[in-house]
Amino acid sequence: MALASIQRVNGGPPPLPVSLRLEATRWGDLDRSTVNALKLNLTNNGARGDLKDDGVPAGSLFRKLIDDAQLGIANTSEWWAVTAWPGGSLYAGPVAWCLLRPEVRHLPTLRTGFYTGPQWRARGIARLLNNEAARLAHQLGYKRLVASPWNARSLAFFRAAGYGILCTYGGGMSSLAEMEIDEKPARLPWRCRLPEATT
Ligand SMILES: CC(C)(COP(=O)(O)OP(=O)(O)OC[C@H]1O[C@@H](n2cnc3c(N)ncnc32)[C@H](O)[C@@H]1OP(=O)(O)O)[C@@H](O)C(=O)NCCC(=O)NCCS
Repeated sequence: MALASIQRVNGGPPPLPVSLRLEATRWGDLDRSTVNALKLNLTNNGARGDLKDDGVPAGSLFRKLIDDAQLGIANTSEWWAVTAWPGGSLYAGPVAWCLLRPEVRHLPTLRTGFYTGPQWRARGIARLLNNEAARLAHQLGYKRLVASPWNARSLAFFRAAGYGILCTYGGGMSSLAEMEIDEKPARLPWRCRLPEATT
């Protein structure tokens, strides 16, 4: 069997460009296998290279949130997930996602968090997820997205995605980034591009 086939069966990215399917789903409507795939494959993990700027592995808020959701101790009634699925790949699971949770602010606000599988990074997928998240947020009546970048890469991502950085992280304090949603953004094409030379 050719090596390329083995890599594809094992979940490596297929030749690019790839069409993606993005799905916006209420948390409670996600099937159990999808939730488990998100928890196991698409949450921060030091072994996957999810490190703070000082090289220390990051803990995973997503993982804790999913655990709490599965234990029934988190109120998930207003949570949404936007998941990205590759077309034309033998890998059947989601490759990236965004979690949206309401946050109490003077403007109706959703807190975003993103995770793209390491093999799928730097292809514009999280940017697509953020576009879809902003469209969904607008549809649901939210006026603002907020996020907390925690390392140089995530800070660069949120800046590029159009968030203003209100304060940056450091000294044990998390950062705050925000994006106002005045009108529904146009949908970006659901395709991922060739990877950039970023890591
Ligand atoms: C941050 C993260 C979500 C980015 O996902 P991604 O799918 O690789 O991001 P994209 O390819 O859509 O990048 C969009 C923009 O972000 C910036 N960016 C992304 N990765 C970058 C990197 N490693 N270095 C510098 N800039 C980067 C680029 O400006 C890029 O713009 P471009 O499309 O014009 O090149 C991904 O690295 C990840 O999952 N990291 C671990 C979890 C995390 O930190 N989540 C964010 C905080 S909740």
